[in-house]
Amino acid sequence: MRYRPFGKHGFDCSEIGFGAWAIGGAWGAQADAHSLAALHRALDLGCNFIDTAAGYGNGRSERLICQVLREREAALSTGTGQSAGKRRIFVATKTPPSAGAWPPTPYEKADDRYSEAYVRENIAERLRNLGTNRIDLLQLHTWTRAWNRNPTPFKLLRQLQQEGLIGLVGVSTPEHDQNCVIDLMRGGWVDSVQVIYNLFEQEPAAELLDVAQECGVGIIVRVPFDEGVLTGKFNKTTKFPPDDFRANYFAGDRLARAVHRAEEVRKDLANSGYSMAQGALKFVLEHPAVSTVIPGIRNVDQADVNCGVSDLPAMPPALLQRLRRHNWRRAFWYAGK
Ligand SMILES: NC(=O)c1ccc[n+]([C@@H]2O[C@H](COP(=O)([O-])OP(=O)(O)OC[C@H]3O[C@@H](n4cnc5c(N)ncnc54)[C@H](OP(=O)(O)O)[C@@H]3O)[C@@H](O)[C@H]2O)c1
Repeated sequence: MRYRPFGKHGFDCSEIGFGAWAIGGAWGAQADAHSLAALHRALDLGCNFIDTAAGYGNGRSERLICQVLREREAALSTGTGQSAGKRRIFVATKTPPSAGAWPPTPYEKADDRYSEAYVRENIAERLRNLGTNRIDLLQLHTWTRAWNRNPTPFKLLRQLQQEGLIGLVGVSTPEHDQNCVIDLMRGGWVDSVQVIYNLFEQEPAAELLDVAQECGVGIIVRVPFDEGVLTGKFNKTTKFPPDDFRANYFAGDRLARAVHRAEEVRKDLANSGYSMAQGALKFVLEHPAVSTVIPGIRNVDQADVNCGVSDLPAMPPALLQRLRRHNWRRAFWYAGK
């Protein structure tokens, strides 16, 4: 596993982090035993960055992470832990806005959706679930451009940082208008940004990633497989169980269109030495602004494959160039819906 600076924050994070949404739920049945084994394996392989959220199974994902970290501490204190157990593990979690529209509408007030009382109570719950008295990185789970001119929730998070409840302050972009966080980076409000950047969604390369580098902001890349389709394992008839959020994400003709595009990626990766999953992660890591990429990991096999990508040879520039053609503007103007 290779490590990269997390922005200017004095911490080296593993190139591959652990995306812990699916182990919380909402992706169909998930046995805790598989989740715990996957977490242990990823940490054994040198992963030192885990991303979770309040909403991932209403704290289930956070509690599993807490259990794994405790098991590793216990193993270490009894002398049965591996040397990898000594490495500091950095856990990032998220506070969502209080109940309401997602993402927030332009007409709402930041102070209503992220009020001080609500944020303090939510963070107290994160601390309890993670079994810690200080959260390494607290991210606001979503944001809206409408709040940029007076980003009061970040003033509060800086205060909570002073109080010692959180280490770093971050934001996760809204799925559309991801560039709305650029002003927050330039204003010094955030230490990290979590962003969607993958073979289909390359817009962050236009500005957001460069600004992050200029400002020393850590970049956490989420959804590197576009929810799995970029691993190349789906076909046009793949069915998702009703309790898997992908039944909705890939509803209608979306699955067929995404699979068609993934098959085009496959052609470019043929004979490259990378599998589809490896190529998808390596593509993300080729951008120098990226601190860590956090594929969702549900089992030991996925931990093995995904963590292994860090040590694969760098992507040849000609291949990188070819893969850039797969940028997909999902708007009807561009016949992409
Ligand atoms: N708003 C936000 O802040 C936000 C939103 C989304 C995600 N996130 C974070 O980003 C992380 C990553 O995104 P994501 O989990 O939504 O999507 P993703 O990384 O694009 O896809 C993850 C899924 O792909 C499958 N997979 C993983 N490794 C694989 C491999 N090597 N080969 C084949 N299949 C593999 C797994 O599902 P199956 O095995 O079921 O196919 C896994 O759950 C999340 O876990 C979460 O931490 C944050």
